[in-house]
Amino acid sequence: MENKVLDAFNKASTDYDKYRKQAIPNMEIYYNTAIKLTQKYENPEILDLGAGTGILTQLIHNQHPQSNITLVDLSTEMLKKAKEKFKNKNFKYIEADYLKHDFKNKYDIIVSSLSIHHLTDKEKQELYKKIYEMLKPNGIFINADQVRGSTEYTEQTYKKQDETHLKKQDIPEEEKEILRNRRKLDKPATLKDTLQWYEEIGYKNVDIYYKYYRYIVIAGEK
Ligand SMILES: C[S@@+](CC[C@H](N)C(=O)[O-])C[C@H]1O[C@@H](n2cnc3c(N)ncnc32)[C@H](O)[C@@H]1O
Repeated sequence: MENKVLDAFNKASTDYDKYRKQAIPNMEIYYNTAIKLTQKYENPEILDLGAGTGILTQLIHNQHPQSNITLVDLSTEMLKKAKEKFKNKNFKYIEADYLKHDFKNKYDIIVSSLSIHHLTDKEKQELYKKIYEMLKPNGIFINADQVRGSTEYTEQTYKKQDETHLKKQDIPEEEKEILRNRRKLDKPATLKDTLQWYEEIGYKNVDIYYKYYRYIVIAGEK
């Protein structure tokens, strides 16, 4: 079956880490906001959905060096990079579509960064329900992801900002084109819909801890 997201990330894996800081505005504060939300957990069982080459995984491992971490990703090539990076660590890897995979464990912390916006809105709702079921009581789901503007005007504002940011970066023009093409695969939901889905599912203490144009960190607990 053709999977454009899988193909795009298999191809992207070689230079993915090299240009990431330029591709994502304020990446350090953005990702670290997600990590800070995990500080109250002691030795948590952690699941990283769409872990890719393990950029967020590395940060969460630094925060919880004793924890078991499971990385899930569709892309063999992205996970291969993660495995190289963490070759001395006892992490678990699942090469699968997280929407279809039958997870057997329960987790204290489920994180995801810049992955879930590749799903349709219906699939996102399905996944958010599935994640809720996979959380232990008082567990947390933290998603650093992208949203769509709530009106055509705000979506255009986000798009202009995406392009303004990319244009300014000192990265090869062909890499910028790869990023622009990959953006065509994005299907972000609005923040308003996302908050409503979380509420319907039953997440508690839901909040937006970071927002910069379309980039958000949203977290909810069980
Ligand atoms: C932009 S990368 C982000 C990787 C990493 N989380 C980071 O912050 O650098 C998105 C990743 O999500 C993965 N992905 C997208 N849809 C997926 C799905 N349905 N199941 C598993 N992985 C998925 C892609 O293969 C890709 O590695």
